[in-house]
Amino acid sequence: MRERVAEETYWLELTAPEIAAQAAPGQFVMVGFGASAWGIPFLPRPNSVAAVRGEHIGLLIRVYGAGSRRLTALKPGEEALVLGPLGTHFELNGARRILCVAGGVGLAPFLLLPAWPPLVSCGAEVRLLYGERQAAAVFDPGKLREISGLEAEIWTEDGSLGSHGRVTDGVDLNGVDLVLTCGPTPMLKAVRALAVEAGVACQLAVEEHMACGVGTCIGCAIETVDPETGEAGYSLVCSDGPVFPAERLRW
Ligand SMILES: Cc1cc2nc3c(=O)[nH]c(=O)nc-3n(C[C@H](O)[C@H](O)[C@H](O)COP(=O)(O)OP(=O)(O)OC[C@H]3O[C@@H](n4cnc5c(N)ncnc54)[C@H](O)[C@@H]3O)c2cc1C
Ligand code: FES
Repeated sequence: MRERVAEETYWLELTAPEIAAQAAPGQFVMVGFGASAWGIPFLPRPNSVAAVRGEHIGLLIRVYGAGSRRLTALKPGEEALVLGPLGTHFELNGARRILCVAGGVGLAPFLLLPAWPPLVSCGAEVRLLYGERQAAAVFDPGKLREISGLEAEIWTEDGSLGSHGRVTDGVDLNGVDLVLTCGPTPMLKAVRALAVEAGVACQLAVEEHMACGVGTCIGCAIETVDPETGEAGYSLVCSDGPVFPAERLRW
């Protein structure tokens, strides 16, 4: 299934029973077409698992280049290579009030959150702030509600839909005991700074270009720090992440 949900943005459902049975919010899949498909990118591309519906997984994909363009042109019945679920996921750590801050297609992992069994069983309260540049890029709020059950508080930078400003303008950490965030790096840095300043636990789903997705090519290394020893080093976004606690990132 493939549906346009915003400008250059598509909702895709793929049949992938084993991935659907295991995926947790923040984890991703590598999706590609293998070496036989000449003329299209050889390497698979990472995409967050955005929903699980029976044997199907949902992906929210924005077109940036050849890989995402090819992926969003998938036709019913056509096959792709899908590897996953990969990487780390968000951890609730007993939180009761969770603030999710999403920028662009960084919305994807939060769509999976409400149906995630650990969240369902702990009954924590979730508030979702979702920012885009302008209205045309906003994921259809009706579809968002249908998929996730979430009512997002929408922010647009030009004020053409929802509140006017950056999504970080809506961050209020009063009473919040966990912040989860996913989106462009400048937004992640801003959210992290607000959480650190307020002393609120924060986990960030980080993006990097990836070649293998499983920790072998070392192409997705980022600077991190061991929070216990203070020792600086590197971590792989694909296998040590993509979700990192704020204190692990050397930003
Ligand atoms: C863990 C993880 C999860 C992700 N989840 C999603 C998801 O759920 N939905 C989704 O749409 N994307 C997601 N991405 C990003 C996605 O993998 C890239 O957008 C995709 O690889 C682009 O491939 P491409 O071949 O289309 O573009 P490329 O040909 O690789 O790039 C084309 C141009 O776009 C730029 N570009 C590429 N990616 C981005 C980006 N993310 N933001 C801004 N500019 C970019 C490149 O620098 C280049 O200039 C995720 C990435 C990671 C690491
Ligand atoms: S993408 Fe290859 S090591 Fe992370």
